[in-house]
Amino acid sequence: MAAKSCCRYPALDYEAPQKFVMNNFLNKTIWITGASSGIGEALATQLSNTRCNIIISARRLDELNRVSANLSNSAATIHVVELDLARQPSLESAVEKVFKLTNRVDVLILNGGISHRGAVSETLMDVHRRIMEVNYFGTISLTKLVLPYMLNQKYGQIVVISSVVGKFATQLRSAYAASKHALHGFFDALRSEVYNNGIDITIICPGYIRTNISVNALTANGTTHNKMDDNQRNGMEPLTFAKKALKVISARKFEAYIGSKEVLGVYLKRFFPAIFARIIRKRKVT
Ligand SMILES: NC(=O)c1ccc[n+]([C@@H]2O[C@H](COP(=O)([O-])OP(=O)(O)OC[C@H]3O[C@@H](n4cnc5c(N)ncnc54)[C@H](OP(=O)(O)O)[C@@H]3O)[C@@H](O)[C@H]2O)c1
Repeated sequence: MAAKSCCRYPALDYEAPQKFVMNNFLNKTIWITGASSGIGEALATQLSNTRCNIIISARRLDELNRVSANLSNSAATIHVVELDLARQPSLESAVEKVFKLTNRVDVLILNGGISHRGAVSETLMDVHRRIMEVNYFGTISLTKLVLPYMLNQKYGQIVVISSVVGKFATQLRSAYAASKHALHGFFDALRSEVYNNGIDITIICPGYIRTNISVNALTANGTTHNKMDDNQRNGMEPLTFAKKALKVISARKFEAYIGSKEVLGVYLKRFFPAIFARIIRKRKVT
């Protein structure tokens, strides 16, 4: 069992030598959801520099196979397991497959998710439900399925990729912000419950990262936004994010904010909520 770190406080940008960081994943089994693109793919790519088992999951099997093929000459062993966070039977069968394949999961990275671009007054209830189903219910359901194994192992780490929008909210993201805020409530509670069982919960809140998150976001009527927003285009490179995130994960931090100046919003909201409310209503959020 790896020694527990004493570093359980939030980090804006935790710095440690990358080689030392990667050693913490040596021979570990890491399961990443949402690994068919963007942040999940970058985390798998960065982790693949180390000898470890990586399970990559999402809905699009062709994209998972592409990621796996790209990493075929790496130090890691890659396993592809399809799953749909919105379908409970798919989660159950994925968990069964994963534990047959690898026997244990040391780090579960809950990264799969979808965003929202639509005003509250126009967004269909179905869209609110869909985003909650994937980002919140799917994520906590997978957690509840993996948890008994981690409790049995008496060791594990659950990493939640939330968002700075899990700490504050902006216009046109009501469903997304609600789903990410809900994750903080659930996982803060779970963190206290499993603290004495060798299981750590790490919540990472990215700012703007250059992925297809805005392209795949659901609009008010449930169609895809299909547009790379300026904030995304100008965001942090996914591999840069992945390196920073792995430092946070390896230090077993309880919460971290990774991005550019948008992460300052977390502190502004916390310490000066009225000023933050005045600023955020004027911000361009696409
Ligand atoms: N990019 C940013 O600026 C940013 C900022 C804050 C937080 N985040 C969070 O980072 C995470 C990854 O997003 P990304 O930026 O990498 O965007 P992305 O490229 O669109 O990736 C989203 C991933 O989630 C998967 N996914 C979506 N619906 C799913 C479902 N029903 N079941 C299983 N997997 C599903 C997608 O795979 P399939 O389509 O193949 O299923 C894909 O691999 C998300 O939770 C997002 O909220 C991103």
